[in-house]
Amino acid sequence: MTFTRCGNSGLFFPKIALGLWHNFGDVDDSEEALKMLSYAFDYGITHFDLADNYGTPAGSAERNFGKLLATQFAGHRDEMLISTKAGHDMWEGPYGTWGSRKHLMAGIDQSLRRMGLEYVDIFYSHRYDPGTPLEETMGALSDIVRSGKALYVGLSKYPADKLQQAIDLLKQAGTSCLVYQDRYNIFAPQTEETVLPVVRENRIGFVAFSPLAQGLLSDKYLHGIPENSRAAHSYGFLKRETITPDMLARIAQLNDIAASRGQTLAQMSLAWCLHRPELTSVIIGASSLQQLQDNLQSLRNTEFSAEELDAIKQATL
Ligand SMILES: NC(=O)c1ccc[n+]([C@@H]2O[C@H](COP(=O)([O-])OP(=O)(O)OC[C@H]3O[C@@H](n4cnc5c(N)ncnc54)[C@H](OP(=O)(O)O)[C@@H]3O)[C@@H](O)[C@H]2O)c1
Repeated sequence: MTFTRCGNSGLFFPKIALGLWHNFGDVDDSEEALKMLSYAFDYGITHFDLADNYGTPAGSAERNFGKLLATQFAGHRDEMLISTKAGHDMWEGPYGTWGSRKHLMAGIDQSLRRMGLEYVDIFYSHRYDPGTPLEETMGALSDIVRSGKALYVGLSKYPADKLQQAIDLLKQAGTSCLVYQDRYNIFAPQTEETVLPVVRENRIGFVAFSPLAQGLLSDKYLHGIPENSRAAHSYGFLKRETITPDMLARIAQLNDIAASRGQTLAQMSLAWCLHRPELTSVIIGASSLQQLQDNLQSLRNTEFSAEELDAIKQATL
């Protein structure tokens, strides 16, 4: 595993982190989940990315991860970077969502209880809340760090102008923003123009989520929608309707480019993210050990020629 310094902080991130949004909940195969986590950790993936609402049902990914921390990974806490988040819908009523101080303070306590932890390494505001003053959200995040419940603060899915304001407010409150997390992949390169300049300017880390566009950027949908895929699940966020003939034509073109590089499409798509110098880390998801193993091979070749980058861009137009 290769490690990169996160922005101008003292903290190093593995180039590939494992996310527990899907595949680690109560509805999933717990044996496969343990195999993936064990393989990942042994390989040098030290960063595990969670959120209060991960898993089906919400909260179960944190709970299941916590059980494994206490058993299979006992004694390894200091070798791990554990992140969680609050800000999406979590419990009933007006305090169960968004970015109020009330929600974030309860959110961190609930996450710590579910995982059986005294602190998380990174606590994220999961999304920008247009209804709450940024001062309130950033003040709460800073206080969570002061209380020792989180070591660092991260922000996720903020518009560029709000991201800059949030970074400034955190600084005023005495807490630096460590890292920014957003969607970034071959089909969603927009971040390069919007938030990446803010990330660069402020020398904070940038981690990309959904680097495979939830599995679209692999060869799995080329011959239909497999039964056990994310697009086939009724509770998933990847909808069957997304997989149109036009989309499949793009995927097939990208698959050919990947083959010409000696990579699978999943490997090339991760390498495409990783070749950007601003990128601290990509957070991958996987539903099997085999996918995880396939994806880790992306680290072998993250160089792209100008022609390859252009061909990839053309394939997405
Ligand atoms: N901050 C945020 O708001 C936010 C939002 C989304 C995600 N995230 C974080 O980012 C993490 C990753 O997101 P993601 O799961 O959407 O990532 P992703 O890497 O784009 O998609 C992962 C899915 O792609 C499929 N896949 C993975 N490797 C494959 C391979 N080699 N061949 C074929 N299919 C493959 C699997 O789906 P199948 O089930 O179909 O096999 C897998 O579950 C999450 O777990 C979470 O930690 C954060």
